[in-house]
Amino acid sequence: MEVERVQAISTLSMNTGSIPEEFIRPEKEQPAITTFHGPAPDIPTIDLSHPDQDHLVELISKASQEWGLFQLVNHGIPSDLLHKLRTVGREFFELPQAEKEKYAKPPQGFEGYGTILQKDAYGKKGWVDHLFHIIWPPSRINYKFWPQNPPSYKEVNEEYAKHVRDVGDKIFKYLSLGLGLEENAMKEGMGGEDLDYMLKINYYPPCPRPDLALGVTPHTDCSTLTILVPNEVPGLQVLKDDRWIDAKYIPDALIVHIGDQLQIASNGKYKSVLHRSKVDKDKTRMSWPVFLEPAGDFPIGPLPQLLSPDHPPLYKPRPFKEYRFSKLNKLPLSN
Ligand code: SIN
Ligand code: FE2
Repeated sequence: MEVERVQAISTLSMNTGSIPEEFIRPEKEQPAITTFHGPAPDIPTIDLSHPDQDHLVELISKASQEWGLFQLVNHGIPSDLLHKLRTVGREFFELPQAEKEKYAKPPQGFEGYGTILQKDAYGKKGWVDHLFHIIWPPSRINYKFWPQNPPSYKEVNEEYAKHVRDVGDKIFKYLSLGLGLEENAMKEGMGGEDLDYMLKINYYPPCPRPDLALGVTPHTDCSTLTILVPNEVPGLQVLKDDRWIDAKYIPDALIVHIGDQLQIASNGKYKSVLHRSKVDKDKTRMSWPVFLEPAGDFPIGPLPQLLSPDHPPLYKPRPFKEYRFSKLNKLPLSN
């Protein structure tokens, strides 16, 4: 059966100027009505090259407690590599449809090219297509889901995987130190080297009614951390003090989200942030989140070092796959 991709719906809608009913969000989610426009604090921007480690620990820990996300600059990933990552990803989505369908996600499984077909709790859909595949560790990679076209896709994504791992390690370290833990504690508490680095490419084609639709609908990430590269079309919004705030585009910055597993492991100290993405009237927005996910069987619970009679556990340990299964079945999510 042929699946209707949002990319094809976009082409039709751009001609008619209207969008199918199933993409019109309920009023309480429509970006035109719910985006906050007053003076608001900016999402924290953190310079990872700062020489004073204590200062970095403080900034990252504070942003993760108060916002659950931050923008990271001077993170060490070469600008040229980020440019290539965006270029090869965009080139894949610009291939003829039949080419892309060769990578279509099988009915069971997380990897591959796809579109969320089931409707959400409101009977609605998001304005986005995607591609998912693991980029690290090498033993978990299934190249079947990596585009062969453009030819440099593999090399660029392999190179990016190494860099994103380094950045993830640093963030885990500072998040551990921020809670007074030994520096490896947080990564080890997530399964250490058994973490999967799952890349998603979000492709949000132009939408004639960006006031009514959303790309990805409000959700928190299931991951430990998410490290995201956006393209130059802004769209990410986060809920802060009950207001939807725009993330501004900072060239070459990475956007880091605290995911549910870090909120659990930190016993509620670090906050998994509710976020969503808007779409654009004329331009294609794209983003490249990498979800750092525990192995399915690995149990995630509050780190024992953080617990005491005064700090009882707020969560029950559960294997990651059970957590994900029950979350996905409660509310159709965007990832
Ligand atoms: C984004 O595109 O910036 C956010 C995507 C997501 O949360 O999955
Ligand atoms: Fe997300």
